[in-house]
Amino acid sequence: MTPGKFITFEGIDGAGKSTHLSFVASLLHEMGHTVITTREPGGTPLGEQLRGLLLKEKMHLETEALLMFASRREHLAQVIEPALARGDWVVSDRFTDATFAYQGGGRGLAREKLDALEAWVHPHLQPDLTLLFNVPLEVARARLDKSRDLDRFEQEQAAFFAATQAEYLRRAEQFPKRFRLIDSTQTISEVNQALAEIIEELS
Ligand code: TYD
Repeated sequence: MTPGKFITFEGIDGAGKSTHLSFVASLLHEMGHTVITTREPGGTPLGEQLRGLLLKEKMHLETEALLMFASRREHLAQVIEPALARGDWVVSDRFTDATFAYQGGGRGLAREKLDALEAWVHPHLQPDLTLLFNVPLEVARARLDKSRDLDRFEQEQAAFFAATQAEYLRRAEQFPKRFRLIDSTQTISEVNQALAEIIEELS
């Protein structure tokens, strides 16, 4: 049995990543893999309750970061680690890069604190592939403004998203082996083509 792989989807709100997640999952399925699709914050019953709080309630920045990692700890134990151990493929809508980008870049929490939490919660596991969906900030904003129900993060100002995106791009440069940048201003079929090529390379 070939070992399963761990793929994460990242990008600022409005970058369009969620549209493409099911495409990648069905591609992997067609290739004969067992695929688990999941998300963060969330992915477990407890994690989904934490997600409800995180997206709604005002809280201290460090509380926010700790709850993101608490949700992740549960997600790893209940879903991600058992699936990878079985040889399944895991496709997650966001993971630890999001905490570095949003709580670190966007909100300004010191990177060393996040490094420490990451070393605690998953000292050895990293995604095999991280797809970073990238769009100009104005495009992302225009997409968000079309939806009525914006959560606590989606209501943030331009400077927050600029800092979040900058941190995502910094991490992509820091970890070039696992990151692939996707230009999300392309048409859906162009993005699908790019994704198919990347997945082909990986498997
Ligand atoms: P998102 O993944 O964008 O879901 P939807 O597409 O349903 O809106 O929503 C999750 C939000 O949580 C998003 O605004 C980013 C934020 N987030 C963090 O701030 N830190 C994290 O570690 C994670 C996983 C998400």
